Formats: sequence, structure tokens, C-alpha cells
Amino acid sequence: MILKILLIEDNPDHIEITKRILRKASEDYQLDVAMDSREGLKMIFEGSYDAVLCDYRLPDSTALDVLKEINNKNKKVPFIVVTALGNEKVAVDMMKEGAYDYIVKDVLYSDTLDMIIKKAIDRYGVNKEKERLEKEIIKAYRGLKETQGQLIQAEKLSAVGQLASGVAHEVRNPLGIILQGVNYLEKKISAKETDIYEILIMLKDNVKRADKIINALLDFSRVASLDLKPEDVNSILEVSISLVRTRFKFENIDVIMETKQGIPSALADKNKLEQVFINLLLNAIQAMPAGGKIIIRTYDKILEEIKKGIGRREGDYFRVGEKAIIIEIEDTGSGISEENLKKIFDPFFTTKGPTGGAGLGLSVTQNIINEHKGFISVESQIGKGTKLTVILHAAEDVLKREG
Ligand SMILES: Nc1ncnc2c1ncn2[C@@H]1O[C@H](COP(=O)(O)OP(=O)(O)OP(=O)(O)O)[C@@H](O)[C@H]1O
Ligand SMILES: [Mg+2]
Repeated sequence: MILKILLIEDNPDHIEITKRILRKASEDYQLDVAMDSREGLKMIFEGSYDAVLCDYRLPDSTALDVLKEINNKNKKVPFIVVTALGNEKVAVDMMKEGAYDYIVKDVLYSDTLDMIIKKAIDRYGVNKEKERLEKEIIKAYRGLKETQGQLIQAEKLSAVGQLASGVAHEVRNPLGIILQGVNYLEKKISAKETDIYEILIMLKDNVKRADKIINALLDFSRVASLDLKPEDVNSILEVSISLVRTRFKFENIDVIMETKQGIPSALADKNKLEQVFINLLLNAIQAMPAGGKIIIRTYDKILEEIKKGIGRREGDYFRVGEKAIIIEIEDTGSGISEENLKKIFDPFFTTKGPTGGAGLGLSVTQNIINEHKGFISVESQIGKGTKLTVILHAAEDVLKREG
């Protein structure tokens, strides 16, 4: 294996000696020479040397300046300083700058040069390998951390789910009794008693509200079995939109459809997906109390990049090269702060106050998408708006894979 060495040295005698020593030591050495630091640096940056031998005292500067310049530019090469006898302190200083070794011009020069160069090259190789391994360990550690986070989240969700379904059933019965009582009283009171009537209506509204929350809770805890079929996401979107259409007009919201016609089918549970879109549309509406725009996009895409949820490993939701169906619902509403962005998928997280939502919409939504082995993500900017992106598997891909 050829070892390309650069010698930076201005003394012709010394150049000659070094050439001779290396030629004698091995046929593998190929020596280039630079006579000053400027030329030397140029050759280092342009070439690829296995090692650099640099005389300390150069006509235009010192080896220390050369090494500093190399470090500045982040160039990595084993660097060996050649110093005059009695100048070892300089060499030690240079080692502190990152020089790999030093050699003194004395009687031992010819005996040790070959060994010192080879040792420096070896050590450089080991260091490079160490750096590579360190990087790999950091990467693996990050991956582990992320998986751990997901596990904790999954655990939390399943605990909430179990709790929720228990509580929901318990609370439903008393609510039913209250509602029956209210209905009874409504019939009993006379038309004159408008104040009592208003109270009854208020009671009824609140019972209904509580019932709605319980339904959401139950949804949340029992998404387990889906009825997955090839479905046209555009048609599902249309149904969802029709269910909230009156709200759009009422709240002064323009809906802009950028759906792709003839998009391939997604593998989906129609009813559950309808619920997902309604949740997302309602959130968008609620984020724009003074009106605004909702842009709805659908398209299909072959996944190329590796990012969260998309990868090459078994267990990644999506694989590179797979076709995905993508649905985006974007609004021009209030946006979500960076801090809240981390929490919006948590059950019961809401910023809508006690009379607003239960904070279950997005956790139910995420649960449903997870059950689809799909992926939901959010991008938002305070004051500008929010975009929720749902990625589903194309039916053809999954059916092909499963045979
Ligand atoms: N499009 C959006 N724009 C701004 N904020 C949003 C948007 N979507 C969700 N959020 C924020 O995320 C929170 C959680 O949303 P989620 O749908 O889970 O609950 P909710 O809407 O508050 O209540 P629920 O959906 O149960 O009626 C919301 O309270 C809101 O702060
Ligand atoms: Mg909501």
C-alpha cells in the first residue's frame, strides 16, 4: 500500500536525507516536498496525504502556524513536527495543538523516522474509527431515547384508556337518570314558569355535553378493531365536510379544496376516518373565531426520505419506496405555541377552557391513525395557522405485500 507523505522543509540537505531514509525504509513511501508553509498548506488541502512531516522553522512561518491553519479548516491528517536538537519543548507544545508526534533532527533521525510515521498513521486510523463509533453510539442512544419516550406515551395512553372506559360506563347511568328527570319536569311545569323552563334547558344541554365527552372517552378506549378496506379519502372528506358545512358559513370560513382527483385508495376504516376529519375540521374552525381559510389537500406520494415514522426497518410505520396517501388540513387560525405543540395529542389537553372541548379530539384522532398504522403530524406557527398532516397506507401496497 502506497503511503503518501508530504514533507514541508526548506533545507535541501535535509530534504535529501529524508528522501534517502524513506526510500531505504520501504518502497511504499511516496514523498512530496513543499519548501514553505504556503505551498505546504495548499498541497495539504488539495491532496490527500497519509501523513505530513513538517520542519518547525519554515522560511515564512512555523509548523505551529501550519497546524493551526489545518485545525481551523477542520482538515484531519497525522501531523509530525521535525525540530532541531534542543528544541523539544516546542514539540511538546505542538503536541498540545494536536500534532501526532515529533521527531528530533539528530543521530537517531534515520533510525526512527519510518517507525514514527507508521505509528502516527496507525494512531490516526484508530482515532478515526473511534470517532465513527462514538457517532454511532450517540445515534443509537438517541434512537433508544425516542423509543423509550414512545413507550412511556403508549403506556400512559393505555392506562388512560382503561380508566376512561370504566369511568364512562359508571357516569352514563346517573346521567341517564338526570335526563329522564329533566324530561319529566319539563312536562310538568306550566308555560308561565319560563325561568324554571330555562334552567331545565340548561340542565339538559349540560347533560348532553357530558354525554358527548363520555362518548369521546369511549371512542378513545375502544379503537381496537377497525374495519379496514380500500377507501377513497376524497369521498370520506366530503362526508365529513358536509357534516360541519353549516359551521363554515356561520363562522365566515372559506374552504379551499386542493384534493387530487383519482387518487389511489387508502386502507382505512371509513367511519373512523370520518371522525378523524371531523375532529381536525372542528379544531380548525375553533381556531378561527373571526373567520379565515381552511385548505384541504390530498395527494399520493412515494416515500423517499427517512424521517420519523418512515424508514427501512421492520416496525417502521412506513417503508421507503412505499406509496402513501396524504391528507392535509391547514387553517389560518391562531396557531399553537411551541410548548403546547408537544401536548396537543395528550388526552385531556385543551386550551379551550371549561366550557370548550374535553381535550380528547386529537388523542382519539391519533389513536385511530395509529390503529391504521398511519402517521399524523402537526406544523404550526403562532398567529399564522396550523397544518395537520395524516399519512395512510395505499391499499394496493399493503394488499400486495400481504399477498
Ligand atoms: N387547528 C388548530 N389550531 C390551533 N390550535 C389547535 C388546533 N388543533 C388543536 N389545537 C390545540 O390542541 C388542543 C387539543 O385539541 P383536541 O382536539 O385534542 O382538544 P379540544 O379541541 O380542546 O377538545 P375536543 O376536541 O375534545 O372538543 C386544543 O385545545 C388547541 O389548543
Ligand atoms: Mg378538538
